Amino acid sequence: MTPVLTTTGLGVRLGDDRTLVHGVDVSLRPGERLGIIGESGSGKSLTALALLGLLAYPLVPVGSAIIATDDGPVEVVATPSRRLDRVRGRTISAVFQEPLASLDPLMRVGKQLAWPLAKHRGLTGEKLRRGVLDALADVQLPEPERIARSFIHEISGGQRQRVAIALALAAGPRILIADEPTTALDVTVQAGILELLQREVAERGMTLLFISHDLPVVSQIADRVLVMRDGRQIELGETARLLRAPQHEYTAQLVAASRALDDFLPAADPSRRGGFEPTDAREESR
Ligand SMILES: Nc1ncnc2c1ncn2[C@@H]1O[C@H](COP(=O)(O)OP(=O)(O)OP(=O)(O)O)[C@@H](O)[C@H]1O
Ligand SMILES: [Mg+2]
Repeated sequence: MTPVLTTTGLGVRLGDDRTLVHGVDVSLRPGERLGIIGESGSGKSLTALALLGLLAYPLVPVGSAIIATDDGPVEVVATPSRRLDRVRGRTISAVFQEPLASLDPLMRVGKQLAWPLAKHRGLTGEKLRRGVLDALADVQLPEPERIARSFIHEISGGQRQRVAIALALAAGPRILIADEPTTALDVTVQAGILELLQREVAERGMTLLFISHDLPVVSQIADRVLVMRDGRQIELGETARLLRAPQHEYTAQLVAASRALDDFLPAADPSRRGGFEPTDAREESR
């Protein structure tokens, strides 16, 4: 199957003399879920921004990232940011750690959602109004009509992240990047957001890049895991294999650390366990 996304030596430089990300090589099938894991500062977010064509000088992308769009392949690194407006949202979209990063504090939620629906899906009038409410209902927000009329300071943190997800999904992208989408949220709403993301990704057959420093969470979501450290891609492999037989010492440390945490957590918390069981056992235990 033709990959939806292929990177070759995708990296990030700071000006002319410093390299922050040394080169990521990965190719993703439609519907594949890739986890990107690594300690703070390892280059996960910069890699995501490079893929989205959102790096701003003095950050400069290098290498290549090819995204399959309805109009054919687009090479993101070589394309000026403003020319990627048709690709961003429509083909590749993102949810970030902090929902406020993608939401406008001065615009009602409904109006923010109406924008991508009108621009990318051509909805107008009653269809547009319906589309906004459906998008809010899809991410399981209660009272879509009220939420649509609200400003974001009038809704909770978990609700804001649901709105940010609705916004990211509005144009029906093929690829979704979720960069630590639950880190800034209260633990009580984290599981709900993860569930929502997983369901939307499965239902829409989207390709997912899920960025996190939490290996147990990543291993529940991802088919393959890419490990980064100090701006380098250390290891890339199928999730079960990577957990069972890490090829790199650093990956082994991450796995050992998460196992220690896993043992420490009470068995009653299924969301934190199960990450190290084979896929079949995981399905049954849900
Ligand atoms: N605008 C910038 N200017 C200079 N250095 C930067 C800039 N943005 C990021 N960096 C540096 O690049 C490295 C990678 O940053 P990045 O944000 O990709 O890390 P990360 O893996 O996402 O970390 P975290 O888990 O904390 O989010 C870090 O050392 C960071 O300090
Ligand atoms: Mg980051």
